[in-house]
Amino acid sequence: MACAVFMNILFLFKPDCSTDQHKAAQICSLIRHLFLRSEMASQVEQVLEPWHDLTGKVVFVTGASSGIGKEFCLDLAKSGCKIIACARRMDLLKSLCDEINGMTISTGSESKSKSEAVPVRAFAVQLDVSADEVTIKAAVQKAWEAFGHIDALINNAGISGQPRNPMDFEEGDWNYIFRTNLTGSWLVAKHVCINMRKAKQGGSVINISSIAGTNRVMAMELGINNIRVNCINPGIFRTEITQGLVDKDWFNNVTLRTVPLKTLGTINPALTSLARYLIHDSSVYVTGSCFIADAGTSLATIPIFSSL
Ligand SMILES: NC(=O)c1ccc[n+]([C@@H]2O[C@H](COP(=O)([O-])OP(=O)(O)OC[C@H]3O[C@@H](n4cnc5c(N)ncnc54)[C@H](OP(=O)(O)O)[C@@H]3O)[C@@H](O)[C@H]2O)c1
Repeated sequence: MACAVFMNILFLFKPDCSTDQHKAAQICSLIRHLFLRSEMASQVEQVLEPWHDLTGKVVFVTGASSGIGKEFCLDLAKSGCKIIACARRMDLLKSLCDEINGMTISTGSESKSKSEAVPVRAFAVQLDVSADEVTIKAAVQKAWEAFGHIDALINNAGISGQPRNPMDFEEGDWNYIFRTNLTGSWLVAKHVCINMRKAKQGGSVINISSIAGTNRVMAMELGINNIRVNCINPGIFRTEITQGLVDKDWFNNVTLRTVPLKTLGTINPALTSLARYLIHDSSVYVTGSCFIADAGTSLATIPIFSSL
């Protein structure tokens, strides 16, 4: 590529003018320098951040039809993962899988000097995680069989609803939130981990927020099977469940004044980089940990309450 640019630049200069030739040589040397630096930067990146290449890893993502889960799927597909995308809205999952199945990515393992083009694959599994255990077990089995195994689970499906005064909560709503966010996440992880344990290949479970207790217990119990369990606690990112909050007219101002990093950032790379790291063997000694990715929001402890 550097050579082609060099030829184009030479073409712009008259060959009989020595000053211009000198200038061309200087520009060429600068371009070669920049090119070598960018090649070196990518080699350094491969050593320092090897999780950019996750070729061949099979990742099961719940809550993949929108928001954080969807961005995880697209980002991990670009890093070479095979994706099993799971949620209730099958039309959204299908269009996500079509998008991923149409991608070709260029990837090279650490030992190879040349990168090669590989197709990426995605498969959709419909599941309501608030369903009973038999239904969840069957959906996990279908997911497992899609590519023959699962290396990582991102337990991301969840609901929040509007922040509400506890006195206004109906018991049914309360139970539904627990069933989805807590029981559902646990049952999905339970059946993925039973399969992982049987396959004896280890694995990585990444819980997205709000189930820190389950995270610790699972990490303690599954360490012996080389299955690592960690949790990502996101701050506030614009998705379907936060839209009502982030669209308030005071929101940007409050963010600027109270968030230490002065921005809430975006899902990619704020959360996707953590997920890549936790899937890659670089995090082989990391289990039972919670990673807060919130630009420091929780340090300021501004509460979110119902009258906001
Ligand atoms: N955005 C934030 O700022 C933020 C902050 C902290 C934590 N989180 C957590 O991040 C996770 C993703 O949220 P998000 O912000 O990306 O919201 P989102 O855009 O509303 O995505 C939620 C996802 O969960 C799926 N889902 C909901 N109920 C489900 C059920 N019963 N069965 C299966 N899938 C279900 C939805 O798909 P279907 O409707 O198609 O089923 C959707 O794909 C949630 O666990 C949330 O608590 C988000």
